[in-house]
Amino acid sequence: ATAPADWDKPLAGKVALVTGAARGIGATIAEVLSRDGAHVIAADIPAAGEALSEVANKVGGTALPLDVTSADAGKKIAELVKSRHSGLDIIVNNAGITRDKLLANMDEGRWNSVMAVNLKAPKQLVDDLLAEDALNEGGAVVDVSSIAGIAGNRGQTNYGATKAGVIGLVDAYTPVLAKKNITINAVAPGFIETAMTAAIPLATRQAGRLMNSLQQGGQTVDVAETIAYFAAPASAAVTGNVVRVCGQSLL
Ligand code: NAI
Repeated sequence: ATAPADWDKPLAGKVALVTGAARGIGATIAEVLSRDGAHVIAADIPAAGEALSEVANKVGGTALPLDVTSADAGKKIAELVKSRHSGLDIIVNNAGITRDKLLANMDEGRWNSVMAVNLKAPKQLVDDLLAEDALNEGGAVVDVSSIAGIAGNRGQTNYGATKAGVIGLVDAYTPVLAKKNITINAVAPGFIETAMTAAIPLATRQAGRLMNSLQQGGQTVDVAETIAYFAAPASAAVTGNVVRVCGQSLL
């Protein structure tokens, strides 16, 4: 690791893309990376509208309305970082969806949409940005997995499979990205208090909290600070890892 010139701003001069940044964990990641000195490109689906601009304004970054599953997503990001910056240093693949159903009722639509957002897009973005030569040497990719990708979760076969797949992506891309001195790591949060989990029925939600090792829901900042570590020069030699945030699942 190289010590940053300014310890208070370890990401000074870096450009960071955060997908799914309009709310929840992604919005907090945008705040924390910007606090650490990065220029944040906050991306989210066009329907996120004002919420996305508000996050981007708050962090002094750029709002990028973008569906990560669209065929030209990587190209659009590459155009932006090449025209307005000197490339991209940090990718946080945070955008994610759930389409829960018990396995017997897991239709193809639910399966495919979750695969597209949670698993295909994080891979495709990295591939496309590499192909466009838009990723800077010495950067970092951080993928958001889930404890559901390690321990599984009832009604979330599609989601759990994608989040396990993300861990596979980290393994597969570690040597590929190392050639450009870029690290790749994943965080696997347990139950975190966000709009995504607020949509879960009350009893299941309470059970989710109690499945965390610390027996309570985690906060978005817990995930964001872990990601900030993986994005920072302090972890320049740390690659190929999956870190649980909130501990084991007590399933
Ligand atoms: P959230 O639902 O509050 O936020 C997700 C954001 O991603 C939304 O703003 C949404 O518009 C955006 N998004 C969805 N599809 C998109 C697409 N195609 N293109 C661009 N943006 C898109 O969710 P939350 O809770 O903040 O989750 C963030 C990440 O953390 C997800 O990957 C989720 O799977 C993961 N996670 C969440 C946990 C939790 O307990 N909340 C636990 C473990 C992982």
